[in-house]
Amino acid sequence: MAVNHTLSTPLTALQVMQDAPVIPVIVLNDVAHAVPMARALLAGGVRMLEVTLRTPQALACIEAIARDVPEAVVGAGTIRTRADAQAAANAGARFAVSPGYTSAVGQACRDVGLALLPGVATGSEIMMAQEDGFTELKFFPAMQAGGPAMLKAWSGPFFDVKFCPTGGVTLQNAPDFLALPNVICVGGSWIVPAEAFAAGDWARVTQLAKDTQRLRK
Ligand code: 3PG
Repeated sequence: MAVNHTLSTPLTALQVMQDAPVIPVIVLNDVAHAVPMARALLAGGVRMLEVTLRTPQALACIEAIARDVPEAVVGAGTIRTRADAQAAANAGARFAVSPGYTSAVGQACRDVGLALLPGVATGSEIMMAQEDGFTELKFFPAMQAGGPAMLKAWSGPFFDVKFCPTGGVTLQNAPDFLALPNVICVGGSWIVPAEAFAAGDWARVTQLAKDTQRLRK
């Protein structure tokens, strides 16, 4: 399990992607859920945690995890603007994930010291991210935008790019992605179900995280 390894600061996108087979895409509506959720994932061997900036509580949740669960590595998802990057860094996030890519977001993350996994869905977006020096990218939304076949097609022209497919990925289809040489990890929300949070069923979250360990490449 990767949980005891020490990670340098600042992180690189490659370190974020290589830590575990799955980066959980987390939506938190209640700050009280943040710390038990992070501990539950850690107990299942998952420490790279992407908390999406989609709820009013997200930044407070990142802050709570950064403060109270130092063994976890908390990042911020849904980074769309310079202000998002700044707020995420201020809250204690150590990496950022974006649903698309702009040079402004790329530069903002560099300015505040956040490793960024930029989201791409087309060849032109890959080329823009590469022009700005990003070679580890999130393929989003992965299933909707072409799935494993798209990544196979990209492996020719974009032979020097690695991907984290996210969007529609499940425990069942994750092996199809992880079998590809240009895929390092996947992202997904299935290991952090809202109903488990609502019920305080942290044992279920731990089990879902443990189930992903068999996906390790
Ligand atoms: C997202 O940003 O919402 C992620 O892609 C999660 O997608 P999923 O819910 O299909 O895993």
